[in-house]
Amino acid sequence: MIIAIDGPAASGKSTAARALAKRLGLTFLDTGAMYRAVTLVIIDRGIDPNDEFSCQTVANSIRLEFDEEGKILIGGMPGEPAIRGPEVTRHVSEVSAHSGVRRALVRLQRKIADESVAAGGGVVAEGRDTTSVVFPTADLKVFLVASPRVRAERRATEEGAPERAAEYEKDLQRRDDFDSSREDSPLTETRDAVRVDTDRLSPDEVLEELCELARVRA
Ligand code: C5P
Repeated sequence: MIIAIDGPAASGKSTAARALAKRLGLTFLDTGAMYRAVTLVIIDRGIDPNDEFSCQTVANSIRLEFDEEGKILIGGMPGEPAIRGPEVTRHVSEVSAHSGVRRALVRLQRKIADESVAAGGGVVAEGRDTTSVVFPTADLKVFLVASPRVRAERRATEEGAPERAAEYEKDLQRRDDFDSSREDSPLTETRDAVRVDTDRLSPDEVLEELCELARVRA
């Protein structure tokens, strides 16, 4: 079974996908963590995030895996929490706009899913092109949305700085605009995705709604 969960930044994709994967006994595939991992290595090596060739070379050469909890490993080493740092967040959209980077990571995402399905399981994949490009024939596609203000408040609270919600809103808007307008695999809501608005839902309520969709649709 393949379930793909898409949506804009901080719409609750990761929390929902991780919880759903656990509930259904499937592999959680955090595709955003993969783009963040490539960006972290690029920054560490002093590479210009706009240098497509070098970014693509990094994406093709580093070893990315996930541990049993679904946390990313870069060359066998934990990528968290460094991949969530402000510098990575600032540059990740530029790096993930490069087609060569996307090709390398999409290949790996499909390989992880194929292996999981072959072993009798499946994946819950989350990320901005999982419903449109990576898994176009997924058994269930969900597009999570929430208003910019609610998303910013959630992200600011998560980071322990609720008073900075307005600042986070600007950053989320900037990433959404960039991700929606890029040429390769822009953020799009596919016609066959089920839209779930999480503005007034708690994480548990989102999980229950997704479980119900999985039961009916997948
Ligand atoms: O989901 P997260 O916020 O960690 O993703 C970070 C960035 O990675 C996004 O803003 C987007 O630029 C990129 N990304 C992507 N395609 C995906 C997942 C993430 O381009 N499937």
